[in-house]
Amino acid sequence: PKLGYLRSRFLWEQTNHTKASMVIKLEKVLISDEVDPKCVNILQNNGVEVVKNTKLSKEELLAEIPKYDGLIVRSATKVTADVINAGTNLRIIGRAGTGVDNIDTEAATRKGVIVMNTPGGNTLSAAEHTCTLIIALTRNLGAASMSMKEGRWDRKKFMGSELYGKTLAIIGLGRIGKEVALRMQSFGMTTIGFDPIVSPAESAEFNTESLSLEEIWPRADFITVHTPLIPQTKHLLCDATFAKCKKGVKVVNCARGGVIEEAALLRALESGQCGGAGLDVFVEEPPKDYTLAKHPNVIATPHLGASTIEAQTRVAEDIAQQFVDLAQGKSLFGA
Ligand code: NAD
Ligand code: MLT
Repeated sequence: PKLGYLRSRFLWEQTNHTKASMVIKLEKVLISDEVDPKCVNILQNNGVEVVKNTKLSKEELLAEIPKYDGLIVRSATKVTADVINAGTNLRIIGRAGTGVDNIDTEAATRKGVIVMNTPGGNTLSAAEHTCTLIIALTRNLGAASMSMKEGRWDRKKFMGSELYGKTLAIIGLGRIGKEVALRMQSFGMTTIGFDPIVSPAESAEFNTESLSLEEIWPRADFITVHTPLIPQTKHLLCDATFAKCKKGVKVVNCARGGVIEEAALLRALESGQCGGAGLDVFVEEPPKDYTLAKHPNVIATPHLGASTIEAQTRVAEDIAQQFVDLAQGKSLFGA
């Protein structure tokens, strides 16, 4: 595939860096989730005291947070309004990753606390994981592998289909959606998509036809979603939209649980309207109910999209450098 990621990151860096008008005092930072050690090294090398404690209960976090100017999390720590309000010295919260849905950004804004993420650091890993799920789905890799582990040679049971000539619909043509398009085109897939802020001309640059959702549903053999979870994207795939799709459509969610309605997906899998699902994310993580994950036509992974050495190194370096830059009055970064 073409180096869409590098190009878009370059363009993004050209346009999204804004000069900070302030310098943030940054003496002490708490890292409360598993973040690559490079993050600690960069901060310490720039004179910042760092405490890493990934075992804090909510009560302990509330008691600890007043000691820190900065907090760095991945997704396990829930940075709720009470944590933010308890952070009397807190000036900045960093998310080593893309989604900031575990941070109450409104509470942070009310209190003048900056929230930064590292958009782009895990784009390639999430895109590759999505492609892996698409490929695995079309050849029944999950179930076939499971049957071998159980000592069975079920050769006839697992007839697959080629990706060549099939249509992949991408809902959300941002960083990850675009990289998925470029990669799946190399399998001979036609890519179509919908995104309210990506113009048809922009998506045409990566060979993806921009269509309305109503045009997309009946055309797609595969649908992959790459949007944030917001009111407009919640249950984008539901009973009503599954009904408009081709029978046997396969779906992938490597974005956020809830973009595909889980109960509707289960019904569509049971009826055969959906021929298979690749799921990396769930409404509840870890799920209390594993019915979907256990379904024979589902390949499920426990939110592994960004779990690569490369992505974790990048997001750890990015967030630490962004903190240091801000403390030194350099540019702000985030999306
Ligand atoms: P992005 O911001 O670059 O792209 C998201 C796109 O969704 C944007 O272009 C936006 O316009 C579009 N969008 C918003 N509302 C829409 C709607 N109603 N219909 C269609 N498109 C809409 O984000 P990204 O970096 O590509 O990340 C996409 C998603 O993947 C996010 O939810 C992110 O949190 C998630 N993510 C998951 C993993 C993982 O480990 N599984 C890793 C990284 C990111
Ligand atoms: C993200 O939003 O970056 C993803 O959920 C990946 C992660 O941090 O695990």
